[in-house]
Amino acid sequence: MSDQRSIFDVHGPVQRHDTKDGSTTLFSENFQQYYHNPNGALSESELVFFSSNGLNQRIQASNGPIHIFEMGFGTGLNFLLAAHKMIEAGNSHALHFYSVEAYPITSELARGFTYPITWAKAELNTWLPKVFSGLNQGWNTFQPDASLPIYLHLYVGYLKDIQTQMKLNHPIDYYFHDAFSVEQNPECWTDEVFMCYLNWGHAESIISTYAAASRVRAAMAAADWKVFKAPGALGKREMTIACHPNSKAQPENLTPCPNERLKNRWFGGEWN
Ligand SMILES: C[S@@+](CC[C@H](N)C(=O)[O-])C[C@H]1O[C@@H](n2cnc3c(N)ncnc32)[C@H](O)[C@@H]1O
Repeated sequence: MSDQRSIFDVHGPVQRHDTKDGSTTLFSENFQQYYHNPNGALSESELVFFSSNGLNQRIQASNGPIHIFEMGFGTGLNFLLAAHKMIEAGNSHALHFYSVEAYPITSELARGFTYPITWAKAELNTWLPKVFSGLNQGWNTFQPDASLPIYLHLYVGYLKDIQTQMKLNHPIDYYFHDAFSVEQNPECWTDEVFMCYLNWGHAESIISTYAAASRVRAAMAAADWKVFKAPGALGKREMTIACHPNSKAQPENLTPCPNERLKNRWFGGEWN
């Protein structure tokens, strides 16, 4: 991409796809990949980003503000679901949802999305089209409903740009690592990225991702995260959860990965 080109010009064609649980996702021609598991976008989001990492319990506990960082805003489904869960649980603490997206979709496309869910507030249906219609390059902050302390901080640009310019008022509690696969989107799965996550987090921060490749786990282990296997979503055998090296607690039912071996494989150059 030349420096003169706007980031909005590089968005390639995407096609709408209805997944098997009745929720909408997209297929990216550029990346040749679906944005979610075609067996169920909503179901995948629920398992990978809310139940496997303990976030559902944290939302129910309503014991303080929650800070999430998502790699890859895509359709915005994960943000919408997080907001829905806060409202449904009657959690009146703040939700700060940070995300990054290099290729934002259009408002028209977002208007057509359907999800098999009764939203905690009917207006939630209108939030994403509004977000996508009002984006500028760099940081965009939205409070979609003035009566709710729910904030979206969306960086329009590349992940590599915020690696050096991240502005946080509070450390991140939960990372939703939702890039395309490591084969198609390798720059989002490096030890440098997971090192940034370590610096932006705290001792109880948790990363969750649908991915289970050894290369992904090795990049996390190389950045000193404690990496675990968890049961995968919708026909996938495994996914990955990583806890901060200083964590005292970890989500239940996780199997540790061979972290030292993965680290040695990473630094041995197996994936260079
Ligand atoms: C799997 S999709 C994310 C799905 C999304 N979380 C959702 O709920 O719809 C991956 C997203 O990462 C974005 N992306 C890929 N490479 C990127 C990069 N280097 N920087 C920022 N965004 C990137 C893609 O445009 C795509 O929207």
